Amino acid sequence: MKGDKPFKIVILISGSGSNLQALIDAIASGQLEAQIAGVISNKSSAAGLVRAKCSDIPTSVIDHNHFDDRNKYDNRLAETVESYSPDLVVLAGFMRILGPRFVDRFVGKLINIHPSLLPKHPGLNTHQRALDAGDVETGATVHFVTSKLDGGPAIVQASVPIAMKDCADTIAKRVLKIEHIIFPTAIQWLAEGRVEMRGKNALFDGIALPPYGKLVTTETSG
Ligand code: GAR
Repeated sequence: MKGDKPFKIVILISGSGSNLQALIDAIASGQLEAQIAGVISNKSSAAGLVRAKCSDIPTSVIDHNHFDDRNKYDNRLAETVESYSPDLVVLAGFMRILGPRFVDRFVGKLINIHPSLLPKHPGLNTHQRALDAGDVETGATVHFVTSKLDGGPAIVQASVPIAMKDCADTIAKRVLKIEHIIFPTAIQWLAEGRVEMRGKNALFDGIALPPYGKLVTTETSG
């Protein structure tokens, strides 16, 4: 929150919306000083829409199946996002690749959470890929979005161990827990003006962060 004006965020989702819920809860507890101006889903069945409605947050559905062209979809999405006049656009499990025009329109104001220790495992099926690679740890990264898929400058990263008995589902649960910690943290830094994107870097208090962003230690188990 800068001055008296609320820091307005718009959140894009495609599914369960557990990260959206973590942001709603962080705002309710005062940990995150922001206002969720709207939630937009590309799927009308996304459970996250129910979470938003339960918290009286305006919602919109823009179904990509109703558009014959990716640019038209991105344009409509951008117009809807802009109708909320956000300070920040947050991809919270939004499972569509956004075209360069959309990304350029919001560059520096567009962040994503990704379930891996980027630059490892961009794209999909991250937990199975971490297992297949024999990784001993994995995690989550919050990063600015650029036109390189999951390749924009990282803001924060946290890791969890991978145990011998793990499968993709058990890892997903453990990673989600840390996502719910680092996402509100990163957005609060943005709201306070402590984090910004300049050129190819994410800056924290004016100093360029390393490629993995800030490392946060989280105490989670199970
Ligand atoms: C989260 O694990 C998020 O990191 C991931 O989708 C899940 C959404 O969960 N995002 C991506 O894979 C983006 N490429 P949620 O709907 O419960 O927040």
